[in-house]
Amino acid sequence: DIHPILLCGGSGTRLWPVSRKSFPKQFTKIIGDESLFQQAAKRLTGLGFAPPVVVTGDDFRFIVTEQLAGCQIAPRAILIEPDARNTAPAILSAALYLEGLEPGALMLVAPTDHVFVDADAFRSAVQAAIPMALAGDIVTFGITPDRPETAYGYIELDLSAKAAPGEPQKIARFIEKPDAKRAAQLLASSNVLWNSGVFLFTTETIIAAARQHCTDLITQVGDAVSSARVDLGFTRLCEEAWSKATDISIDYAIMEPADNIVAMPYASGWSDLGSWDAVLQQGRPDGAGNVISSNATAIDCDGSLLRSDSPRVEVVGIDLSDLIVVATSDAVLVAPKASAQRVKEAVAALKSRE
Ligand code: GDD
Ligand code: MG
Repeated sequence: DIHPILLCGGSGTRLWPVSRKSFPKQFTKIIGDESLFQQAAKRLTGLGFAPPVVVTGDDFRFIVTEQLAGCQIAPRAILIEPDARNTAPAILSAALYLEGLEPGALMLVAPTDHVFVDADAFRSAVQAAIPMALAGDIVTFGITPDRPETAYGYIELDLSAKAAPGEPQKIARFIEKPDAKRAAQLLASSNVLWNSGVFLFTTETIIAAARQHCTDLITQVGDAVSSARVDLGFTRLCEEAWSKATDISIDYAIMEPADNIVAMPYASGWSDLGSWDAVLQQGRPDGAGNVISSNATAIDCDGSLLRSDSPRVEVVGIDLSDLIVVATSDAVLVAPKASAQRVKEAVAALKSRE
């Protein structure tokens, strides 16, 4: 079986005011009738999948249990990080925890704030990648890029190693978050994919890679896992050991230096719902390219997102072009679509006023 590892410790500040510090975007219904976290958990249940291991922060533990119960999923474990140290410690703690239960287990690392349009296609791609993962490779799932995005990792394929279509391909290089110039160069070459942030490997493979590329980190995380204590069904990683762990993402800690990576091309609709312009792109547009929620009305608008997350707030736009308007019961955001990435500045500004 494949063991899903659900990562849900991130904060998602660019989707303010719907995403909040105490209730970040993965737990909200940004798109669809269930939260992104619930959609991710459900995508990875059924034939071939074991119950998930969730890695999250203390503040989110009851949101996690409530939302899993809400979709009838019983987790294998919920690991609690004493504080957020980014994805490398989170993933390695899950790997070491699982290795203790089932040596050599297959694990599928899944961010829980992404949209996969076609859950069946996603599951098929994962199944097709199993042989490579069992053979000791780190499998990434690669998306065809369409813009010089600087917020993603890039996978440069090794075209000299011929692979059949639909099979994982060897990669030449992994480049995490290139600057704008490098991203444009990468986009211009035909053999790059974006890293979706989903990974398939065995516990053995990732632990060996960590021993090679981030020796101190795997020792620190190992201490935090071996001295973890179980509390009301939550597995609390040891705070003292965890406080020594480096804050680093898996992409920098392991993907960039590793040489046993393959990429499974994935073309069935993916979005990292990072910002409101991505939500607008993924939503169901009307004839003028607006995405309008219930409790919102557009009069002669085009290319705009008009959204109310409160049953008590009506949002009305008149003659708007390419705007984002998002209202909740206690906050309103208005910004041009082109400034969607700057929403995190609003969160910082509000925080400094606290
Ligand atoms: N448990 C836990 N603890 N989860 C975390 C933590 C943490 O400290 N930090 C982040 N996460 C979760 C986030 O909630 C998200 O689901 C996932 O891990 C990825 O983290 P992000 O912080 O969103 O990473 P990113 O978007 O900057 O970059 C990654 O994803 C891109 C695609 O969306 C990289 O893997 C890129 O290479 C990739 O292109
Ligand atoms: Mg992300």
